Amino acid sequence: MGQGKGLNAPKLAPSILSADFARLGDAVSAAEAGGADWIHVDVMDGHFVPNLTFGPKMVADLRRATRLPLDVHLMIEQPDAWVTKYVEAGATYVTAHVEAAADPGATLAAIRAAGARAGITLNPETEVARIVPYLEAADLVLVMSVHPGFGGQAFIASALDKVRALRSLLDDRGSTAELEVDGGIKPENARALAAAGASVLVAGSAVYLDPDGVSAALAKFRRAVA
Ligand code: DX5
Ligand code: ZN
Repeated sequence: MGQGKGLNAPKLAPSILSADFARLGDAVSAAEAGGADWIHVDVMDGHFVPNLTFGPKMVADLRRATRLPLDVHLMIEQPDAWVTKYVEAGATYVTAHVEAAADPGATLAAIRAAGARAGITLNPETEVARIVPYLEAADLVLVMSVHPGFGGQAFIASALDKVRALRSLLDDRGSTAELEVDGGIKPENARALAAAGASVLVAGSAVYLDPDGVSAALAKFRRAVA
């Protein structure tokens, strides 16, 4: 249960997208040492988004580098062709975009059948109504608060309304799914997101590019939502 004003402190999921890709083992160790709850892993295919990152081997290698849950965000076309590979690589959560999946319900079912927790996400311009049919089949709902593809963008304020709407839709259904937000999240806007009902906050640049270091950055987030 929450403390003080009844705010449940959300989990913190540093996104390694803003870390040094030549030192990702150190990056996940630093997050773990700093008290991160999950590691957020951004997979991009250069088609669904105009950027490229990495594939299942990176998830398998990260799986051996940390004990934290791996939260794999697939920004790829045809996610149904790939989700099983990411589950087999050791993803804890695999999240697909509703805009990319031909049959989002089937994609979520395939993730669960392969043995991971299933997430659905939507772009800033996509209406919440698009994902409502899949809420019962989801273990995680991710609200994008930037246009996916790059770290370091500004938070899109309308995401707060989506978080509030999804909190109420999930509660109405008795769903215990995680409600995650990704993009432009800093200690300065973390509290409002927690108050709106977010249970997981992703932060890339605010964690890995903080000049005070990863542990200090995570402490700033914890103070902001305490
Ligand atoms: C963007 C990614 C995010 C990214 C967030 O496409 O999905 O996870 O790392 O970066 P920041 O926190 O810098 O906005
Ligand atoms: Zn992401």
